[in-house]
Amino acid sequence: PETGCLSIIVLGASGDLAKKKTFPALYHLFKQGFLQSHEVHIFGYARTKLSDEGLRDRIRGYLSKGEDGESEDLVNFLHLIKYVSGSYDQEEGFVLLDKEISRHESLRNIQVGTSRRLFYLALPPSVYPSVCKMIRSYCMNQSDLGGWTRIVVEKPFGKDLSSAEELSSHLGELFTESQLYRIDHYLGKELVQNLLVLRFANRLFMPLWNRDNIANIQIVFREDFGTEGRGGYFDQYGIIRDIIQNHLLQVFCLVAMEKPVSLKPEYIRDEKVKVLQSVLPIAPEDVVLGQYDGYKDDPTVSQDSNTPTFASVVLRIHNERWEGVPFILKAGKALNSRKAEIRVQFKDVPGDIFKCQSQGRNEFVIRLQPSEAMYMKLTVKKPGLEMSTIQSELDLSYGQRYQGVQIPEAYERLILDTIRGDQQHFVRRDELKAAWEIFTPLLHKIDGGEIKSLPYKPGSRGPAEADELLAKAGYVQTHGY
Ligand code: BG6
Repeated sequence: PETGCLSIIVLGASGDLAKKKTFPALYHLFKQGFLQSHEVHIFGYARTKLSDEGLRDRIRGYLSKGEDGESEDLVNFLHLIKYVSGSYDQEEGFVLLDKEISRHESLRNIQVGTSRRLFYLALPPSVYPSVCKMIRSYCMNQSDLGGWTRIVVEKPFGKDLSSAEELSSHLGELFTESQLYRIDHYLGKELVQNLLVLRFANRLFMPLWNRDNIANIQIVFREDFGTEGRGGYFDQYGIIRDIIQNHLLQVFCLVAMEKPVSLKPEYIRDEKVKVLQSVLPIAPEDVVLGQYDGYKDDPTVSQDSNTPTFASVVLRIHNERWEGVPFILKAGKALNSRKAEIRVQFKDVPGDIFKCQSQGRNEFVIRLQPSEAMYMKLTVKKPGLEMSTIQSELDLSYGQRYQGVQIPEAYERLILDTIRGDQQHFVRRDELKAAWEIFTPLLHKIDGGEIKSLPYKPGSRGPAEADELLAKAGYVQTHGY
């Protein structure tokens, strides 16, 4: 492993993402020994005028959940954090930031190793261009002894194909692709990372994973709360840009892509791009949009907003493996439950001698959250004297099977990947472009009011039309289990 000084700079340090995700993830890495005090320095940067202690006070509560607010780990971790305030588009702040980083690098005696600088942009997208320009001009690692500068960026990466390409070109002029880490935190989830293993390390699935055996696949995200406090942002983006075009599409890639040549990140990302490029244009009849009642009560939301808070979209892949198999990507806010899962439904058994088809089909469910699990719905003989059948499950629930194993937070894992220079779980530029190519025509139709969002009740399953779309796509509800 590389040694030498590691500076982690969180830009937007007093914002929500930094407080709720970035700093807690860094703290967990620190507690597990991945960030060594003698090598690491963490800098918060934002516009607010604050002291080091001021920033520490703001984040302390988010770190100490369930533990003593004065624990040794916490005190030691907070001690590593410094704060620099400055604007996002003026050089003074970045010159000062560079000076602070360099000062700490020299304290850490970088002669013995390399100087590594990781910039985490926990910022609104409007300031990305100027912040990146400033980092490029004033804050890059200049050490002759080697090391690196890496930039972590968060979605939204643009609003459609052309704005995303504009941002990509801008970043591409400033940094090389190997310096850019586009985070999609779904790629850091345990069961998402398990997908390649599941598909390519199990003989059982390989011959079945295709149009001959699979009837349809659903990738579903549900939340049981609305856009509280984020209405202003959300109304500009909507559920397709917020969840489907990135998180669900990344899961889709891993479910549908071909086997990569090896686990080399570039090979994996090549396959993801290929499957994205094989997706057919989305037909308007393959889309149902919804907006929950009460969404517009938020004063930051426009009164005539057509922004969907729910969407169900059928994707169809034009290739040898998947021709004719609908992939239903569905996401919604303010629904009846909080859950993210993949449901792979197999076709009916030909020549059913048990007359059991009406009970349901084989279905393989991968629950990403909460309570990570994989289970397979099977038809079995009903235990007893009679020869009749019932639906049952082969169940691998992580909580039971891996008791005591702490499943890492997505951000924790992805930040560690960034430090290690592993880009497998990050989105490459051409992948991002292909993702926008799929959704941009649809998004423009929605923005132009051509497709309307149907009302649904908060706490419901979403608009009934979405269930009709699912049935039309060939999904058969399982009964009697
Ligand atoms: C974010 C979205 O990217 O993901 C949010 O902007 C959403 O709207 C969140 O709530 C969901 O993440 P998770 O990990 O809680 O499923």
